[in-house]
Amino acid sequence: MNARDTAAPHPVVADLYGQMHLPVICSPMFIVSNPALVLAQCASGVMGAFPALNARPQSLLADWLAEVEAGLAAHRQAHPQARVAPYAVNQIIHQSNDRLEQDLAECARHRVPYIITSLRAPGDVVAGIHAWGGKVFHDVTTIRHAEKALEAGVDGLILVAAGAGGHAGTLSPFALLAEVRRFYDGPIVLSGAIANGAGVLAALAMGADFAYMGTRFIASREANASEGYKQALVQASANDILYTPFFTGIPGNYLKASIVNAGLDPANLPAPDASNFGTTRAKPWKDIWGAGQGVGSITGVQPAAEIVAQLRGEFDAAQARLAGRTFA
Ligand SMILES: Cc1cc2nc3c(=O)[nH]c(=O)nc-3n(C[C@H](O)[C@H](O)[C@H](O)COP(=O)(O)O)c2cc1C
Repeated sequence: MNARDTAAPHPVVADLYGQMHLPVICSPMFIVSNPALVLAQCASGVMGAFPALNARPQSLLADWLAEVEAGLAAHRQAHPQARVAPYAVNQIIHQSNDRLEQDLAECARHRVPYIITSLRAPGDVVAGIHAWGGKVFHDVTTIRHAEKALEAGVDGLILVAAGAGGHAGTLSPFALLAEVRRFYDGPIVLSGAIANGAGVLAALAMGADFAYMGTRFIASREANASEGYKQALVQASANDILYTPFFTGIPGNYLKASIVNAGLDPANLPAPDASNFGTTRAKPWKDIWGAGQGVGSITGVQPAAEIVAQLRGEFDAAQARLAGRTFA
């Protein structure tokens, strides 16, 4: 039997479902995620998140946290019946992140409800986050990293499967999720090219508790992305995405169009050894646009609230479709 064959959700999941309109956690995206997007996401009933590093200089983080909290409080007051989801802040656990201690101290002051950690196992920071009542979801691409994160005491795992925007794994979501569920019955968030409501339902059917969605929300009015980037997402399909370690040293998915705009040939990038990373003046994330294979579901640039409403409609339609299929 799998670690989670019972119908009742894990208590952390049940608590979140009670505050959500749809089981979606919006991924934090470097440069792209900002307080306006996070507010719109949370107010629509899905969890919003931004990387702490997007608030520059560091002192701006306090303002961003205050802005999100004030916005959510005002929304709750104006709409007492609405489901308003909690927000998350992403912390990059890596020696290159020299702001980590300061950023965590700011999050402690604001008692940020969810911290999403990425890159290294968050061993040293989990206890501090728990001390202020925060929960830690850690993002992993392999079974070994999942095990290490659980040893570190995290409250949930984010499985970044093949096809996800930005730094992504290579494992099929079917394989990765099934293997993790064999030893873990806690909260699982699944990502990798989930870009419509049927995909959200599919993640739940597979045994995840939430879908993790990034790329879909870059094509929102609120996202901090250029109009060119947003329109390129509308135009693109899965075949227009390139998986390469060339730009950051870690394999990730990017829009081929932005690589061409930078004067490079996506089909002939130099070999991915460290000496090549500096050979282009194009800045990853700013000029080289991250995007997952789910881009084909993006047909326009919409306000985030409208995206969530559309996802909910698609989720309900997929559920109704399945209800009509019974097997003797
Ligand atoms: C443009 C872009 C920037 C990203 N930046 C971050 C980041 O700063 N921190 C992080 O943990 N993940 C980052 N991610 C990865 C996302 O957290 C997530 O794994 C991904 O968006 C999910 O796949 P999807 O885009 O196909 O929905 C980024 C993804 C994109 C597309």
